[in-house]
Amino acid sequence: MPQPNVTPGTPVLDENFKHIAFIMDGNGRWAKKRGMPREYGHKVGSSNFKKICLYCCDIGFQAVTVYAFSTENWKRPKHEVSAIMNILDNYLDELKRDYKKYHNRFRFIGDLSVLTPALQEKIAYVETLNSDQPQVLNIALNYGGRGELVHAFRTLAAEGKTDITEDDISRTLYTAACGDPDMIVRTGGDIRISNFLLWQAA
Ligand code: FPP
Repeated sequence: MPQPNVTPGTPVLDENFKHIAFIMDGNGRWAKKRGMPREYGHKVGSSNFKKICLYCCDIGFQAVTVYAFSTENWKRPKHEVSAIMNILDNYLDELKRDYKKYHNRFRFIGDLSVLTPALQEKIAYVETLNSDQPQVLNIALNYGGRGELVHAFRTLAAEGKTDITEDDISRTLYTAACGDPDMIVRTGGDIRISNFLLWQAA
C-alpha cells in the first residue's frame, strides 16, 4: 500500500482508519440561524470542506469521500440548486489552478451525465490531475446509494455474471478502489444515512 503524504508534525492516524466519509449538511440551518440565506451557508460550508479535506489527507487518510450533491437535492428551489452548481464550478476552476496545493487525486462519483457538458468537461480534466498521488478525494455528485447499487448490478449483468457474490458487488461500486469507510461524519449533526454509501456502510 503506498504511503500517504503525511505532513511532519501532524498527528498520525491509527492504521485502522483509512477512509473517512462526510455527509455535508447543516449549511442551510447554520446560515438561517445567522439571518443569512441558505446559499451563504453553502458558500461557507464549501470553504470549510476544502480545509477539512486538506487536513484529512494531511493526517493520513487514504480516501476521503464527500456527499456534495444527492439525487434528491434536485428537488430544492431552483436558485439554491443553481448556487450549489456555481460553487462546484468555481471549485473545479480552483482545482485546475491550484491542484498542487492538494496531495490527493480527485474522483467524482455518481451519475454525472445530467450535469452540464461544461461541468462534465471540467470534471474529466480535474480527474487527470495529481493522478500519481496515492490518496483520493471522492466527490459524490448526483449520487444516491440505491442508484450506485443499480449501476453495480447493471455492470455485473453486462459482464454476463449470474452467480453474483458480495465481492462482485463491492468491486463494481464507485468506491471499489478505496474500500468501505471506517467512519461517516454527518456535519449537521443528525444521525441518518440519507441514501449515502448504503452497501459500504453495512
Ligand atoms: C445539504 O445541507 C447540503 C447540500 C445540499 C449541498 C452541499 C454542497 C455544496 C455546498 C457544494 C459544494 C461542492 C463542492 C464539492 C465544493 P443543507 O444546507 O441542506 O443542510 P440543512 O438544511 O440540514 O441545514
